[in-house]
Amino acid sequence: MTTTRGLEGVVATTSSISSIVNDVLTYRGYNIDDLAENASFEEVIYLLWNDKLPNKQELDQFSAKLAEDAVIPEEIINQIKSYPSDKVSPMAALRTAVSTLALYDEEADDMSEEANYRKAIRLQAKIPTVVTTFSRIREGKEPISPKKDLSFAANFLFTLNGEMPEEVAVTAINKALVLHADHELNASTFTGRVCVATLSDIYSGVTSAIGALKGPLHGGANERVMKMLSEIGSVENVDSYLHQAFEKKEKIMGFGHRVYKTGDPRAKHLKEMSRKLTELTGETKWYEMSTKMEQIVRDEKGLPPNVDFYSASVYHSLGIDHDLFTPLFAVSRVSGWIAHILEQYSNNRLIRPRAEYVGATNQSYVSVENR
Ligand code: ACO
Repeated sequence: MTTTRGLEGVVATTSSISSIVNDVLTYRGYNIDDLAENASFEEVIYLLWNDKLPNKQELDQFSAKLAEDAVIPEEIINQIKSYPSDKVSPMAALRTAVSTLALYDEEADDMSEEANYRKAIRLQAKIPTVVTTFSRIREGKEPISPKKDLSFAANFLFTLNGEMPEEVAVTAINKALVLHADHELNASTFTGRVCVATLSDIYSGVTSAIGALKGPLHGGANERVMKMLSEIGSVENVDSYLHQAFEKKEKIMGFGHRVYKTGDPRAKHLKEMSRKLTELTGETKWYEMSTKMEQIVRDEKGLPPNVDFYSASVYHSLGIDHDLFTPLFAVSRVSGWIAHILEQYSNNRLIRPRAEYVGATNQSYVSVENR
């Protein structure tokens, strides 16, 4: 038996959803660069779930259904009000609320293809509302109901801030959502697939995926990037901060990747968005600090930035609370999780690898009095 730590390089399934070949990322065969420049997030969700881009009528119907299903049950709002919101992380709140949503979905355990697709839309639609409702409640504000005539990206900002968002912010959020939608067999997607491969329900799959995304080695890195930038404080401090971190062998959040070696193709889009948005806010220091960090970490460690690095200064520039960065990642990635969950159901086999046992052997039981 050979053990592969972290399953590095192990090909655990076939999939036709997204691919990473020679550091190029595609969704259903469409290059991420093309989609980031041109597609709405609604189109991308449809693409991931249906293996084709929607025509105008399909897109209109799909977008309308997403907007219609975005309202969350009153019971969930009341539960969120009961969370100790000054103490819990929004990712923990999201994980709990998504699990609770299943209790209010009569089709939760209906495993038919049709019911799973309906639940997919409900989950995709409601998750942003859960995030923004939590955010408003912890600020002592009333939750805002999503509007049926707004796009997915605009509704996120509207229900977060309670005012109509500016076009530039909607465009930025839409692009970030497109870029984060799917990423082959990343840790949270794999978690979701392992869960539903037992033929557990879609809510359980998404809840477990949220748990995996929360960790700082995965989606939790973007929040920590902003914490690091805030600690560094100015361009002049970047050099000494990084060299101290290198000396202490600390990981620099937002750098490195298990699969990409020359660079993460999503990072350049977020970098450009960071440049533009920090110019608009007049806080160019975040962009300048980030580019200086990129240069030093690349030169001295050979590590390029990943998707989480520039998304931090993008979201900060849009006025989003730092601990909502990872929930916003989940708002997008649920589209990919669901695509993978549906694919898993369509050709399922239980995922059950082995462990190489390295513990004690030939032990004999000794009664508790004699230990
Ligand atoms: N900063 C400093 N050194 C690093 C970093 C980093 N960000 N990433 C990797 N390294 C070094 C490691 O210390 C290790 O060095 P060593 O061989 O001398 O011990 C080597 O590169 C390999 O690193 P591993 O952690 O073994 O690589 P792995 O493939 O397991 O991890 C990961 C990939 C988790 C992304 C890693 O690069 C990391 O921790 N990055 C920081 C956290 C982060 O940004 N996560 C977001 C990833 S993107 C996403 O999930 C959305």
